Amino acid sequence: MKIGTPKEVYPGENRVAMTPASAEQLLKLGHECVLQSGAGDAADFSDADYAAVGVEVVTSAAALWETADVIAKVRQPELPELSLLSADKTLVSFFNPGGNEEGLSQARSSGANVIAMEMVPRISRAQKMDALSSMANIAGYRAVIEASNNFGRFFTGQITAAGKVPPAKVLVIGAGVAGLAAIGTATSLGAQVYAFDVRPEVAEQIESMGAEFVFLEFEETAQDGAATGGYAAPSSPEFREKQLAKFLEIAPEMDIVITTALIPNRDAPRLWLTDMLAAMKRGSVVVDLAAERGGNCDATVADEKIVTDNGVTVIGYTDFPSRMATQSSELYASNIRHMMHDLTPEKDGVIVHNMEDDVIRGATVVFEGEVTFPPPPPKVQAIAAKKPTVPEKTPEELAEAQAAAARRAGHNQIGLLALGAVLMFFIGQYAPASFMRHFIVFVLSVFIGFQVIWNVSHALHTPLMAVTNAISGIIILGALLQIGSSSGIVAILASISVLIATINIVGGFMVTRRMLQMFQKS
Ligand code: NAI
Repeated sequence: MKIGTPKEVYPGENRVAMTPASAEQLLKLGHECVLQSGAGDAADFSDADYAAVGVEVVTSAAALWETADVIAKVRQPELPELSLLSADKTLVSFFNPGGNEEGLSQARSSGANVIAMEMVPRISRAQKMDALSSMANIAGYRAVIEASNNFGRFFTGQITAAGKVPPAKVLVIGAGVAGLAAIGTATSLGAQVYAFDVRPEVAEQIESMGAEFVFLEFEETAQDGAATGGYAAPSSPEFREKQLAKFLEIAPEMDIVITTALIPNRDAPRLWLTDMLAAMKRGSVVVDLAAERGGNCDATVADEKIVTDNGVTVIGYTDFPSRMATQSSELYASNIRHMMHDLTPEKDGVIVHNMEDDVIRGATVVFEGEVTFPPPPPKVQAIAAKKPTVPEKTPEELAEAQAAAARRAGHNQIGLLALGAVLMFFIGQYAPASFMRHFIVFVLSVFIGFQVIWNVSHALHTPLMAVTNAISGIIILGALLQIGSSSGIVAILASISVLIATINIVGGFMVTRRMLQMFQKS
């Protein structure tokens, strides 16, 4: 099949749905690739880059929509674009099916199939195609960069000869994909980061990224992401009251506020109100990522940057991914290519639109002349689904279970020791005294080594290696003393000991090196 990507027509849109790298992968699936000339220019991919990997470049949009069997694009198609669709074609694009009735009915009457990239379900298997997450990740990163560009101070605290500079305080409201990306970026720039989310289960993630979770003293159990496909459920008015009171309390301290709170298919909740803006210091910055759905902040104007009377900058841009077009095109094109991979199971360039597949079914909004939106809920649980809860034991039950386990282990050990003693007694009856001396040392070493290693949890195996390396060092020393022995068998045994202990030491160093590399940035 021919996969084609037109130039985006939405004003100011810089992204492109196919990059030279993704085209290479699509070609490997047995497809051909075609591109409208200039489609990649704004994302810094030239026609020549595409031609070099074997993409056909056509001059007009009409020619592209005519020749391609699958049209991959970024923005929701405009109605004139949809009029170029015809039967037997597949459109893969953001489509906003929930708010695009006209588009849905036009696509249906064209007879084409439509895959809406924002409808990819949030299940583990589909993460590689999750374009909303890819774009939100970029938006979160860019929100921090944009905030710092409008902020007159450092993010990181410094002690200079001229005096002490405190770190900037950043509050991130909504710790979904964009929020977590913002937290990661702000902490890496050295800011002191606070974050809030209605889903308490994200507290751990927030803290593991070096930010502080803003806790509310409130009992509410309705925030279960599992029931809502990995998204938050609306909170009660009482909870909201508490939340707003907390925000008002911390507003004067915050230099930068990044709001990302949203529940899909709803207007963005108002969370940063006029009184909080008024309480902020002059020069503070609010970046409202939810501007497209009405904004989380009272002063947000979509697609604009405004400054309030008390000098707070409020940024409501809705095109953050497009402002980093090379990166976002790479990620989006990669999402599309993974979708095409699932649509081409035999890698033979033949599309199999399998409506039994959870991911393909979930994302398909028009199929064979029917509108198939909204999809049924996915059969597999969402990523944020809670683990099944094991009934909790009372402290008494727990103590009793631990004591029983300790008793069992004690009995086993006594049994083993008694068996060892009996064996030793019988061997001692026949073996020479010099053998017995060495043999007892050997048996005790095996026993102690086993006890040391067996009782160490997996997480501590790396520090344990340091101990075993020290033991290996002692073994090598002992073996070196024996290696020149006149007895051939002693020399051979000593050489084997040197070899095995060396393998242990070198292996230890290699594992340690690998672990250290995990903490290196490049
Ligand atoms: P997400 O669904 O992963 O995260 C939203 C988070 O907000 C969730 O963790 C949810 O629990 C939380 N939340 C919901 N209601 C809340 C409340 N009342 N108080 C506190 N937290 C609340 O969404 P994602 O993908 O991170 O996107 C976040 C926002 O960024 C969305 O509004 C999205 O449209 C927007 N976005 C904006 C872009 C731009 O250029 N401006 C580009 C990409 C995404």
